[in-house]
Amino acid sequence: MKGIEIAPSILSADFNHLGQDVALVESAGADVIHVDVMDGHFVPNLTIGPPVVKALKRNATRPLDVHLMITNADDSVGWYLEAGADRLTVHAEACRHLHRVVGVIRHAGASPGVSINPATPVEVLRDVLGEIDYVLVMSVNPGFGGQAFIERSLAKIEALARMAAEENPDLFVQVDGGIDATTAPRVAAAGARSLVAGSAIFCAADPAAALQEIRAAAESAI
Ligand code: DX5
Ligand code: ZN
Repeated sequence: MKGIEIAPSILSADFNHLGQDVALVESAGADVIHVDVMDGHFVPNLTIGPPVVKALKRNATRPLDVHLMITNADDSVGWYLEAGADRLTVHAEACRHLHRVVGVIRHAGASPGVSINPATPVEVLRDVLGEIDYVLVMSVNPGFGGQAFIERSLAKIEALARMAAEENPDLFVQVDGGIDATTAPRVAAAGARSLVAGSAIFCAADPAAALQEIRAAAESAI
């Protein structure tokens, strides 16, 4: 990936005006729209499912980057692929057969990615790096927006960037949690190229300006 990709997370959008909030960040230059699916089991929060992904897909002009925080990803990725996910991220901790799941996503024509929680070591990904397009490093414990960035994530991003150079030079690292104009240049310098930001964009007085500020801060560091 050339440059920095900004992926606004609609978790912090106003769900009463979801389509308008998506359009707002698209016109501000969002590269993809990050959609957080939570099941109340894998994470202690419950958000949206396939019908909302399908509704978003009707009007979105940017690809849908769907982040599944659900226990039974093996059994339900098909719902999200049918709903129109362009990228589908599953958690390594939540898949019984991770290699098979990423194959299903690829076979459906979508882009597969795998996420790891803050306590999961990067080494668990080595044997699937060649099968996926990106790794999502969780820099907070998944479940909620607005949490503080976990510093250890920087070392994980660096380690994954090194591992990708050996296993899959086309792979990019995405980071999610606590990203704002202060942390953005730090994760970019560590090797992240896709930055998910929820509260720093949607809770800002001017979301478009906030998005552009995060992008400029990250791009200044690479
Ligand atoms: C958290 C979600 C994130 C969340 C990030 O579990 O995966 O995408 O929206 O929120 P911020 O950017 O506020 O940390
Ligand atoms: Zn997310």
